[in-house]
Amino acid sequence: MIAYMKKLTCLLLSCFLMLVAASAQPNQSTAKIKIPAAKPISPSLFGIFFEDLNYAADGGLYAELIQNRSFEYNPADRKEWNPLTAWEYTTEGFGYGTISIETNAPVHANNPHYVVLNVEDEGREGVGLTNSGFDGIVVRAGQKYNFSVFVRQLSDNAVPITVKLKGKKGNVADSVTFSTNSKEWKKYTATITATENDDSAKLEILAKAKGKLALDMISLFPQNTFKNRPNGLRSDLAQTIADLHPKFMRFPGGCLAHGDGLGNLYRWKNTIGPVEQRVEQRNIWNYHQSVGLGYFEFFQFCEDIGAKPLPVIAAGVCCQNSGGTWRIGSIGQRGLPLDEMNAWTQDILDLIEYANGPATSTWGAKRAAAGHPEPFHLQYVGIGNEDAQTPVFRERFKMIYDVVKAKHPEITVVGTVGPFPAGDDYEQGWRFANELKVDMVDEHYYEKPEWFLNNLARYDSYNRAASKVYVGEYAAHDVKRKNTLRSALAEATYMTSLERNGDVVRFASYAPLLGRKGHTQWNPNLIYFNGSQVCPTINYYAQQLFSSNEGDLYFPNVITTDLPDTAKTFAASCVKDSETGDVILKLVNNGAAAIPAKVNLSATGAANGTANVTILSGDPMAENSCDASQNLTPQTTTLAVKKSFTYTVPAYSLVVIRIKGSRK
Ligand code: AHR
Repeated sequence: MIAYMKKLTCLLLSCFLMLVAASAQPNQSTAKIKIPAAKPISPSLFGIFFEDLNYAADGGLYAELIQNRSFEYNPADRKEWNPLTAWEYTTEGFGYGTISIETNAPVHANNPHYVVLNVEDEGREGVGLTNSGFDGIVVRAGQKYNFSVFVRQLSDNAVPITVKLKGKKGNVADSVTFSTNSKEWKKYTATITATENDDSAKLEILAKAKGKLALDMISLFPQNTFKNRPNGLRSDLAQTIADLHPKFMRFPGGCLAHGDGLGNLYRWKNTIGPVEQRVEQRNIWNYHQSVGLGYFEFFQFCEDIGAKPLPVIAAGVCCQNSGGTWRIGSIGQRGLPLDEMNAWTQDILDLIEYANGPATSTWGAKRAAAGHPEPFHLQYVGIGNEDAQTPVFRERFKMIYDVVKAKHPEITVVGTVGPFPAGDDYEQGWRFANELKVDMVDEHYYEKPEWFLNNLARYDSYNRAASKVYVGEYAAHDVKRKNTLRSALAEATYMTSLERNGDVVRFASYAPLLGRKGHTQWNPNLIYFNGSQVCPTINYYAQQLFSSNEGDLYFPNVITTDLPDTAKTFAASCVKDSETGDVILKLVNNGAAAIPAKVNLSATGAANGTANVTILSGDPMAENSCDASQNLTPQTTTLAVKKSFTYTVPAYSLVVIRIKGSRK
């Protein structure tokens, strides 16, 4: 109630200020003093876009340590792959036997392949399989790991199974042994405690008696997942994402959402339920997705980090690059047959029920069965991803849009206007969005740093009565696609213009979010990582400075400079968070000379006092790296501020000045 009253007071204040400003327009001769008007802006402007690209899910955020746990890799993923990729046949102590891949009576029809281990002589130590994880398995001494496996005993006798984690010099964990006792598929679990640190361990699973076993879903998870969720996320990577304080999260793509051909559309229903029953598939980026990180886990993660979920569903068409950019022999955009569109649309309605419906509803019950009876409070659904604006697309988008809006007027639908910031798709996309009065549209642009500096006025003239904007994918691409300070400052400069236009631009997210070193299909990314390290780029810190310092009121003309010719080197914004009363200034200098900035806080209600000043600054071509001993990170100091003062913005810097408000 108090928070509500505060918000109301703030809105009334901002309306009052707007009225004052309106009566003080420059064309009225009485207006001598320009009073800056506070304008309400999106309080959720900065969020994240997660796409399973660059091994962002398997081998990335998803904490599973075993690669190809389900033996479902196949040459369609990558021609050199097969069901035994990442596995090796192993004997220790002169045993012998065979392994084969079979499909008869699998754990589940959605998970057809499993391995059969036929031990003819167990030797001294057993016969089995070794998995090398994703570039090795990273373990830490003292940490506990949950091992599990599905086994069907094919011979009459029980077979003891030993599980070990081995490093180059021997065991790096206490081994565990259990015995099979079922001729049906049965899940066996064990806890393994690491005794050593190792960045490239392997998991060995050895049968220690003559016999024949079917094995599937061989899994190893750290117990220490993010928020200790079962089937959870890698805690260091998830925490780095959480530290961005994203207000929303778009998932699961990108191109991945509309897929490489109609057979490769991302179908959310295939990604929920017990992991051994999910439908795995190749992704458009040419590797395998286990979908262990599926829709339930996405929703759960959003909730855990306080981000509004924004799932993106294909608009009944596949990616226009299908079979093209990344593969030989273009297929291009194709639409689902019209008689399949009702079912496709129903899937989207079912998704809304899965997220928001009562636990007694058909799909809400599946959410509850997964451990979450409360709704996930879905408010946004994206339909389509930068699709070519063809009649095939338009017909299908409209079919979906009309039904979703009719059945769920409370859901904000995010449409799409093609892959580029201008051009045919963009123009046709906007015309179509205006015709349909789509709530919000998703714009994408990957451009040089200069483009961002040259387009700071892009949204100043957007029609406030038309669809709102989600800048769903953007990044400044510097030379050789490096994450330089220069690119981060160009993005920061642009973000001040997004704040200025936060009445029409409601959401914005840098893209892509994650890249596993040595396994990228796309650069630059916001956060790089390998099995043991997480390496935020300079761009990450620029994003973080904005997303951790959002406001819901924007004040123009608070920060100015008398220096000439600074239109493309200097930009600034002033927002206020009406919950705390904090006033936040962001100043960006893209140039080699310091810029004296004049700050006049009179309109903001900020009191004299001490502010926190955080500066990200350095060589414009600096890059952060996993290996560097010193990376560029923001540095915080304090500053005494008055109603009006001059602040000298260092060369090549982003400065955030946060002035504490009186409201708590
Ligand atoms: O962010 C990488 C890709 O860029 C996305 O998948 C796609 O939407 C865009 O082309």
